[in-house]
Formats: sequence, structure tokens, C-alpha cells
Amino acid sequence: MPLRIGDVAIDFPVGLGALAGYSDLPYRLICRSLGAPFCITEAMLDRQILLEGKLRKRLIRLDPADHPVAGQIMGIEPETMAEAARSLDRMGFDIIDLNFACPVRKVVSHKRGGALMKDPARALATVRAVIEAVPGRPVTLKLRRSFRTSDTANEDFWAIARGAFEAGAAAIAVHARSVEQKYTGRADWGFLAAVKREFPDRTILGSGDVTSPAESLRMLAETGVDGVLAARGAIGNPWFFGQARDLAAGRPPRQPALDEQREVIYRHFRLASEAYDPRRGLKMLRHCSLQYAKMHPRRTDLRNALVPVRTEAEWRAVIDAFYGA
Ligand SMILES: Cc1cc2nc3c(=O)[nH]c(=O)nc-3n(C[C@H](O)[C@H](O)[C@H](O)COP(=O)(O)O)c2cc1C
Repeated sequence: MPLRIGDVAIDFPVGLGALAGYSDLPYRLICRSLGAPFCITEAMLDRQILLEGKLRKRLIRLDPADHPVAGQIMGIEPETMAEAARSLDRMGFDIIDLNFACPVRKVVSHKRGGALMKDPARALATVRAVIEAVPGRPVTLKLRRSFRTSDTANEDFWAIARGAFEAGAAAIAVHARSVEQKYTGRADWGFLAAVKREFPDRTILGSGDVTSPAESLRMLAETGVDGVLAARGAIGNPWFFGQARDLAAGRPPRQPALDEQREVIYRHFRLASEAYDPRRGLKMLRHCSLQYAKMHPRRTDLRNALVPVRTEAEWRAVIDAFYGA
């Protein structure tokens, strides 16, 4: 079940979606090593991409083991978005993804992210400017099904999707909730099926309620989308992708033993300490190990033990005690 995004060939159709606070380089490398065929960065503000300095260095990291990877941009001005896309293109991102979906209040009130779902003219001006800026590089969009939950005609969605494909977009990814819904309620998989029916020859990626590897395959089968973006379901479970591959091949999904989980958690800590500084690396891993705990048979005890942890030594002691040193 290969997938194509423009000229980028992807060997399996379930990848890691964009996740602010999670889909950074360390976690992408962990997911890659366990079978993720493609990943999307956290949303990056166009202005931050263009800024020289520490924040940019922290945010924009590439690694030879992290391909194909889509760099996601969020912004307001088509020209600034295009400039940021040029910068990611030069750095070697395989795909440029435009975020028209983020529902965070501060983002929407600044007319970025999900705000574009009610401004098709600006959204399409951005798509055209970006495509023109990075000739030959696949450009994709992340959309919601609509801005308002009550907007079941989704006219702005269709205008953006149609216009984007006409302008040369390589794929659209659809989170099948409205911007107003944020992350609540059910994602409307029926809408994903309608999008695929409308654009049978285009690449459509589905997102929303991909809670498990089995659900990712169910989304492919029931909606007909070409690819699936795992999001919350893959937080704390980087084995998600290998498990989806197992299921697709008719094998039972492999469950990692506790010593393998420990090895991955320590590797994640090492990668985060290198990517950030050790202090920030520890903060991130304390947070991430609360998520990894969902794979542990004693998850509640483990979470309770992690909450008061402040130092690396305390954190290691909890991990070793629960995962068997
Ligand atoms: C913590 C968190 C951060 C997210 N950050 C981004 C982001 O930076 N860019 C983006 O396009 N989507 C982002 N999303 C949306 C997800 O990629 C996905 O579309 C959404 O969570 C629906 O999928 P799910 O129900 O399977 O989690 C984020 C979601 C969560 C929960």
C-alpha cells in the first residue's frame, strides 16, 4: 500500500502527523526507527523560520535518518509564507505543508492556522505564492472540515481544496473536525470519504480519531483516503507504526517488552538532551515518560511515581524501577 505525495514515494500509508510539543526531531527519529514511513514537523511560524538565532535552530532540525519529512508552516502573509517555504526548501525538507487548521485561540485570533478556513481567498493566495516559491517541491495543506461546526455545507473547505489542487498542491490532509470543535467530539470520517469521492485522482490524507493502529487501517478501508496521519494515538506509542504494518500484513501487532520500552525511553532522552540542552531534555522526557506510561501494565502507579520527579537521578530511578534495570 504505497503512497505518493508529489514525487515523494512513501512505502506505507500511515505516518506521524504534526504534533506541537511532540513531533520534534527526537520523537521523529524514535518513530522512524520503529517503522514510521514519513513524519510532519510541529507547526512553525513563518517568521520564526526566517529568524536567525537559537529558536530557529531548536525548531528546525533535520537528520539524514528523518526522510521523507514535511516541514509545516503557519502564518498570515502569503509572501512571508513563501519566503519561509523557500528557506525550508533550501534546508532540504522533502515536502512543504501549510497549516490552515490550528484551532488554538491565540493562533486563530491572529488570523493564522484555522482562521484561514474562513478566508479562502487568502488561503489560496498563500498556496499559490508558496507553490511558485518552491518549484518542484511538493506542497500540501492541512485543513479542517470547516471553520464552524454548524457549517455542514463546508463551502469554504471545497473552495480551498479545489483551488489548491488547481494551483498544483500535491495533497491535502483533512482533520475531519471543525476549527470550533478543536479536539472534542467525533471526527467525521464520512466527510473524509466525501473528499476522496470528490477528488478520486488526488492524494488525500485523513486525520481524526486515529486512536490505534487498527483504527488507522479502518480509516483507510472505510474512507478510501490514500494515507492516514496518526496523532494523539501515536503520542507515547512510537511502536504504533510497526504495529500498523503488522496488522496490514495480517500479523498480530508486536507488543514491546518492558526492557525494549526502557531502551526507547532512554534513547529518546539522549536525543532530546542533544537536541535541546540536558535540562530541557529532562523536562521533555519527564513529560514524555508520562505518555510512554500508557504502554505500561502499571500505568497509574508509574504516572504517580513520575509526577514528583525533579532531577535526572530521580527520573532514572523511577524508570529503572518500573521498567526493570
Ligand atoms: C498536542 C497536539 C498538538 C498538535 N499540533 C499540531 C500542529 O502543530 N500542526 C497540525 O497540523 N496539527 C496539529 N495537531 C493536530 C493533529 O495533527 C491531528 O490532526 C488531530 O489531533 C486529530 O487527530 P487525532 O484525533 O487522531 O488526534 C495537534 C494535535 C495535538 C493533540
